[in-house]
Amino acid sequence: MSKISAAITAVGGYVPEYVLTNQILETMVDTNDEWITTRTGIKERRILKEDGKGTSFLAINAANDLINKTGLDPKEIDLVIVATASPDMKAASTAAYTATQIGATNAFSFDLEAACSSFLFGMSTASSYIESGKYKKILLIGADKNSSFINYKDRATCIIFGDGAGAVLFEPNEEGLGLQDEYLRSDGAGREFLQATYGGSSYPSTPEAVAEGKHFVFQDGKTVFKNAVFNMADVADKIMGRNNLSKDDVAWLVAHQANKRIIDATANRMGLDEKKVMMNIEKYGNTTSATLPLLLNDYESQLKKGDNLIFAAFGGGFTWGSIYLKWAYNS
Ligand code: UT7
Repeated sequence: MSKISAAITAVGGYVPEYVLTNQILETMVDTNDEWITTRTGIKERRILKEDGKGTSFLAINAANDLINKTGLDPKEIDLVIVATASPDMKAASTAAYTATQIGATNAFSFDLEAACSSFLFGMSTASSYIESGKYKKILLIGADKNSSFINYKDRATCIIFGDGAGAVLFEPNEEGLGLQDEYLRSDGAGREFLQATYGGSSYPSTPEAVAEGKHFVFQDGKTVFKNAVFNMADVADKIMGRNNLSKDDVAWLVAHQANKRIIDATANRMGLDEKKVMMNIEKYGNTTSATLPLLLNDYESQLKKGDNLIFAAFGGGFTWGSIYLKWAYNS
């Protein structure tokens, strides 16, 4: 019997309707469209405005998009993983609520948190379950409502982040398609450079902390930028090297959308032409766990069976890594 690999067999996506443009941000903080565009590549991002709707709302919509496109019976799903850095609530699993709402009543479910690398690490987790033969249909959703902890008075962060979700289905494959190799890393020394200090277990929220905005995300952008450029390029290069992939063998770079300059640096190190680099940062900004599946959703019609895809991500913690995956279908 041939070896079982874990392939992506369907994708879906969802972004909220409200569009926060650079022009609107110009009226909120001391910034301008030219600075944001040249420093980040971002033109607009989507924000979930409705009260009481959290990350699960985004995740449910992305999952339903996949289900409606494919006709998948949600009762056949074995496991739902919600990769997120912004769960709906503390102590209650966002994935459990999401799974029930989409009708995945035979699935178990859990959240997976690794900041901007959550979805990448979720790909590894989902694939391992499939390769082991334990489960046959795993829905991996990357979803984040970043606007829930962004300070819209802080120009260093509010211009970058947006809300959104993407979903993929992992299934067994016997043609050798799907996940081929992974190189995943983390380094806790990076925690001080990108974090929301208050509101977690180390420093529960206090009225004083909230008044000072310490529950919002803080980023030392320059340090994060330098580490992201070096490490994302490094792991992408390593995974190409150890799989004997030349730039001509790679069909697409699927890179975390945090800053266009970081993505360009990674593509340059890989020797890739920009036509092979998936990019949608201009429309959505950094949606944390949702960037990779939203790219797949936007580019699905251009992907061909057998295409070699290199995924790369870098995020808070620090967490980062690269995955080599062979695309499994023509849409
Ligand atoms: O997904 C998680 C990982 N996150 C990332 O990968 C993000 C990594 N970091 C970045 O993308 C970039 O560091 C930023 C986009 C956040 C900032 O870009 P930068 O080129 O590193 O700018 P900077 O922070 O060094 O600031 C340069 C100048 C400063 O002014 P002075 O001191 O030179 O006078 C800032 O005060 O730009 C100023 N500045 C702004 N100006 C207009 C900072 N933010 C803004 C702004 N609009 N929004």
